[in-house]
Amino acid sequence: TGAATPTTRRVLVAKPRGYCAGVDRAVLAVEQALERYGAPIYVRKQIVHNTHVVQTLEKRGAIFVEETAEVPEGSIVVFSAHGVSPAVHEEAAKRSLRTIDATCPLVTKVHKEAQRFAKDDYDILLIGHEGHEEVEGTAGEAPERIQLVDGLDGVRNVQVRDPSRVVWLSQTTLSVDETIETVDRLRERFPDMVNPPSDDICYATQNRQVAVKEIAREADLVIVVGSDNSSNSKRLVEVALDAGAAASYLVDNAGFIREEWLEGVSTVGVTSGASVPEELVEGVLAYLAERGYGDVTEVEAMAEKVHFALPHELRRDLRS
Ligand code: F3S
Repeated sequence: TGAATPTTRRVLVAKPRGYCAGVDRAVLAVEQALERYGAPIYVRKQIVHNTHVVQTLEKRGAIFVEETAEVPEGSIVVFSAHGVSPAVHEEAAKRSLRTIDATCPLVTKVHKEAQRFAKDDYDILLIGHEGHEEVEGTAGEAPERIQLVDGLDGVRNVQVRDPSRVVWLSQTTLSVDETIETVDRLRERFPDMVNPPSDDICYATQNRQVAVKEIAREADLVIVVGSDNSSNSKRLVEVALDAGAAASYLVDNAGFIREEWLEGVSTVGVTSGASVPEELVEGVLAYLAERGYGDVTEVEAMAEKVHFALPHELRRDLRS
């Protein structure tokens, strides 16, 4: 090819990256349930949005289903980290399923906010991506009070009963900058709109975005490891491009990297979404090292020390 071979080749790895506390807890919950109760353990939806994680758990005896109706009566079913609506809990109870709720506590927090504002008769504008499981679960807390606002385009269609009783909430894994824009636009229409009591976009999403910005500023290419259905991973690609990376791609693993992406590239940035095991990042670093990018520096934006205890149903049984 005509592209010049760059003289320096280096890799900047963002930190924090990869597993957040909610994913760690959800994956561990399935592993511990398999160990405590034995296979099969049913899991409603992908426990976390990562192909590798799902396949690994399948091999160990987890059975992934779309709906609780597919779970045989009396079996154990784990609810995924993204959360479920009250209707799903009711269905499970009706069918005598034993449930382990691996909903991330930070998603549960948004559910509680939704319940409270619905009870106070607010119209709730839920900023999020149409069709995402988390949004479906949250909206199910008060279907007649919650409207989905999917990005700036969604702002126009919002209709409220009383503009002085409006609150916005959000999905936990959005782009921080884009959400601020959407909120500004909503506020132009509804100046009295109330803010959520605390950030709905979770610490892990925010920290991974801050960290990718730092490496993106200096990188010609940013590789984000993550699956295609992972909201927070997809946002990392957008944030990297906004922060100045010339190119950025989402890959499930090293096998998806194309040689031509590296043409003329001297600095490669690497990060991973909140549902991505570190071994997949190691695979990407090995791929890069084989192609002359062996000089690796980790750039730490901030320390992260969040940890969540296992779901209580499981903790109780593990104790006994
Ligand atoms: Fe929870 Fe945020 Fe992870 S909501 S599952 S800590 S990405």
